[in-house]
Amino acid sequence: MTPLDIASVRSQFPSMDVRDDGVRRIYLDNPGGTQVCGQAVDAMVSYLRHMNANDGGYFMTSRRTDLLKAEVHNAVADLVGAASGDEILFGQNMTSLTFSLSRSLGRELDPGDEIVVTRMDHDANVSPWLMLADDLRLTVRWIDFDPETSRYDEKSVEEAITERTRIVAVNYASNALGTVNDVADLTARAHAVGAWSYVDSVQFTPHLLTDVQAIGCDFLACSAYKFFGPHQGMVWGRRELLERLVPYKVRPASDDLPWRFETGTMSHEGMAGTLGAIEYLAGLGGEPVAGQNEPVAGPPPTHSVPNPDRRAALVRAFERIEAAEALLCQRLIDGLKSIQGVRLYGPPSSRGRVPTVACTSERLSPAELARGLAEHNIFVWDGDYYAMEVVKRLGLAGSGGMLRVGLAHYNTEADVDTFLDVVEKLCTTG
Ligand SMILES: Cc1ncc(COP(=O)(O)O)c(C=O)c1O
Repeated sequence: MTPLDIASVRSQFPSMDVRDDGVRRIYLDNPGGTQVCGQAVDAMVSYLRHMNANDGGYFMTSRRTDLLKAEVHNAVADLVGAASGDEILFGQNMTSLTFSLSRSLGRELDPGDEIVVTRMDHDANVSPWLMLADDLRLTVRWIDFDPETSRYDEKSVEEAITERTRIVAVNYASNALGTVNDVADLTARAHAVGAWSYVDSVQFTPHLLTDVQAIGCDFLACSAYKFFGPHQGMVWGRRELLERLVPYKVRPASDDLPWRFETGTMSHEGMAGTLGAIEYLAGLGGEPVAGQNEPVAGPPPTHSVPNPDRRAALVRAFERIEAAEALLCQRLIDGLKSIQGVRLYGPPSSRGRVPTVACTSERLSPAELARGLAEHNIFVWDGDYYAMEVVKRLGLAGSGGMLRVGLAHYNTEADVDTFLDVVEKLCTTG
């Protein structure tokens, strides 16, 4: 495998060389949202300049919009390993989609049924289920994690999933701890009792190859702004379920997949950007990809043809991304471990995780650290980043949570080293 060419990667992000008062930016805020690749930006601008229209008409821009929509559904199918673009639902973001689907799933449930959520999830995969449980008088069971290993606690998994469980909502990669969870195993356990699994892949998909067929889950959600595209969310759903569930939609809207779940007018420019981001990622796979950023007018769109070349390119791209990020992540972890008074959370090495590392300092609060880093134009997040149960479980709720450092494949060793130097100075002299 040829490694990623970091200079070429960085040259594809317009924001990478931006300086503020002559100081370069170090983007370590990636779990909160990555930088947007030029291909995504260009596709959005191009759409708005040349193709802007509502869909479903006979005229050129509308037909091209239809083709774009078909193509981006297929591109997301390639990204997550789905069999068909019409199993992909677009929405404003992962949170809104999850609230909306939880309503439809709720129509299949009866009072007394059980829903399983976890203490490692971002609240976007917790609150929709808690509110559904409240509405329908369902029982909620929680999967806990072990603060020592940052992994789901086996005993609590066994206890939470029962014969009455109907939905198991789990986290693929933690936005706070970086832990990658065995969602295939959790799905198998859900299926063994006749439950559906809803996997939050928002933090996994930007870093590692996503494969819904290998996981075997029923739903998987992600967000384009976490994988180098615009602010937009998408969910893959198992076809039989998407056909069976009742969508919350207006009467004249199409009842076909995927449109029955895509309520109102979508962000077409966002879809153009998401397509651009996926084409960028496929481009990291190193082989030419037969995809199109600007679909031209042609026959009516079909949603059922993902592109095997693009999927193959994405498979290669994620091998490269994974290798590059693992090295950087280990450097970050080793560096943080060597700073006196810094405590790390999450898995102890770069294995079994995404490159998101959380820590606290004995001397400074997470907010003080984040502010100190911002003064050096180093961007990081502090607090709970909506992983409120994680922070509570770790006993950090009253003390400002944790500092979160999140790498992406465009970060460099120099980014990590500069960050570590500043943290060391802040923590030892600060
Ligand atoms: C793990 C995880 N799930 C869900 C979300 C929410 O995603 P969205 O902003 O698309 O609703 C986030 C956002 O940070 C996240 O990190």
